[in-house]
Amino acid sequence: MRKDLLGLEDLSREEIEEILNQAEIMREHLDKGEINLDYAKGLSVVNLFYENSTRTRTSFENATKFLGANQVNIAVGNSSVAKGESMYDTVRTLESIKNSIVVIRHSMAGAPQYIAKKVDAHVINAGDGQHEHPTQALLDMLTMRRYFGRINGLTVAIIGDIKYSRVARSNIFGLLKMGAKVKLFGIKTLMPKGIDEMGAIVCDSIEEAIQGSDVVMGLRIQLERQTSGQFPTVKEYFAEYGITLDRMKLASDNAIIMHPAPVNRGVEISGEAVDCDKSMIFEQVTNGLAVRMAIIKLMAEGEDVSNQEC
Ligand code: CP
Repeated sequence: MRKDLLGLEDLSREEIEEILNQAEIMREHLDKGEINLDYAKGLSVVNLFYENSTRTRTSFENATKFLGANQVNIAVGNSSVAKGESMYDTVRTLESIKNSIVVIRHSMAGAPQYIAKKVDAHVINAGDGQHEHPTQALLDMLTMRRYFGRINGLTVAIIGDIKYSRVARSNIFGLLKMGAKVKLFGIKTLMPKGIDEMGAIVCDSIEEAIQGSDVVMGLRIQLERQTSGQFPTVKEYFAEYGITLDRMKLASDNAIIMHPAPVNRGVEISGEAVDCDKSMIFEQVTNGLAVRMAIIKLMAEGEDVSNQEC
């Protein structure tokens, strides 16, 4: 494992496989209720989230604790960031008090990459603006691999707010490297120019995207990142472009529904589709814990924590 995990654009297929294989082992521990492990004993991991999070922040928190490491959570609003301290000074401070891994979420694309070059601590990108969300794509790929037994050859439709989605970008990088076919659909105002150059197929309708797909992945409409009204009313959006059980009939026979969450029920996906048997949405969350445990464990191995005093 390299020093930092910043994005899937940089990772090779072999590096992705190493993390997924390790995550399978972590998932076995979780399924057996083994949450008092010592793979990262002696390390301290800090969560530095400049943006809101439920799943990513708490799963990093549990992952750290379950591996026997020390865990620190920075509430940015209550920290010296609120007094104007720079991100660099904040991370140097956290490193100086012996945190070896810094998990950063930031609204600015490139923030974790900028910090990673300047500090010795491992940096994990927990989402940077519209750029990448590598641990989300890894947990998505783990979910697909556990369900289908492979990623190679799958057809994955990613539907919704592609323009503002770091989840879409990381999944496109990762899935194409792992041999999947990726289809994209979003209304024109939510599709970035040149997205087809990444190697995904851009579809003209939601039906075309879902037709024959093994995985139908909805994306949250990110109202907070939109600068002006990019779609009509929510009701009209759902009627025209929402993932519904009816539309899922077009997918392959054993297709699954995925979504990174949080979900806007009745906007990009129906409540019935979230809760149906095909839905992997809460399974994804558990796999997110396994993936984050795997990454911390692999980084801890690089630190040789077995020789450190706690
Ligand atoms: N999927 C995801 O990143 O969720 P959170 O924003 O709750 O972390």
